[in-house]
Amino acid sequence: MEAIRHIDEIRQTVDKLKKQGKTVGFVPTMGALHEGHLSLFRLAQQRADEVIVSIYVNPEQFGPGEDFDEYPRSLDEDLALCSEEGIAAVFVPTDDVMYPGKRFLRIEVDELNDHMDGKSRPGFFEGILLVVNKLFNIVKPDIAVFGQKDIQQFRILEQMVTEFNHDVELIMGPIKRANDGLAMSSRNAYLKEDQRRRAPGLYRSLRYVKQQILDGATNIGLLLDHQKKELEAKGFEIDYLEVFSFDRVAPAGEVTSGNKYILAGAVYLGETRLIDNLIVET
Ligand code: PAJ
Repeated sequence: MEAIRHIDEIRQTVDKLKKQGKTVGFVPTMGALHEGHLSLFRLAQQRADEVIVSIYVNPEQFGPGEDFDEYPRSLDEDLALCSEEGIAAVFVPTDDVMYPGKRFLRIEVDELNDHMDGKSRPGFFEGILLVVNKLFNIVKPDIAVFGQKDIQQFRILEQMVTEFNHDVELIMGPIKRANDGLAMSSRNAYLKEDQRRRAPGLYRSLRYVKQQILDGATNIGLLLDHQKKELEAKGFEIDYLEVFSFDRVAPAGEVTSGNKYILAGAVYLGETRLIDNLIVET
């Protein structure tokens, strides 16, 4: 398996695969690979003949004071995992390759980032749109797989593909969880032992609320307030715990039957931000 640093080389690799009549799947990552990432590789392999992975900690999606410097980096292990998983090639660009010289253009996100993580992390989704837009133009995959874990990212990228006519099919992979329910994340490495033990509390709250909704609870605000208090009592600091509409990623207000919602939470345990979500179809 090749680790490729330059754009012309990755293009040649993809061209070669396509000339052999193969379809190409793509899974962009920021590395520090865990089972969640691997589950996306395997899903991509089911849907395409060969799979390309990118590993790039994109500085454009980290705000001032966020964890760009501390973000876990483990390239050697990551490459070994990709090789074991039968990945065809890994694109590992440097900042000079991705962002050479001054840029004169900017992509903006409208409305879809007014809530959830877009609200809490200004510039985050613009940075993601920028890098994925570039990666799609570089790799030109037939399909690309992203995780439900970052569901607002998925919705915004889906919109990018539609509005900018990228010739790629997006596939959403389910959230891979540890045995105790905690959604896997590269950032879980920041958790101290006692925080790690408490961390699945977020998932438990989401599951409880989802069940209540499916059982016909109508006062969602009260339900969520109660869960927020419970989580706070367990040492979580709440960023949001909310029901959003699936299409617009806006607070739902009320839940009506025959609709699709995202029940999502973001919390801090100490300095570590955890996110998780469940899709609720009423
Ligand atoms: P990263 O956080 O490395 O995640 C890469 C992909 O793995 C994303 O699509 C994410 O949703 C998915 N993922 C993360 N945890 C998961 C889990 N527990 N189960 C299933 N999938 C999971 O998301 C990014 O990188 C970046 O924003 C990127 C798209 C690469 C652009 O820089």
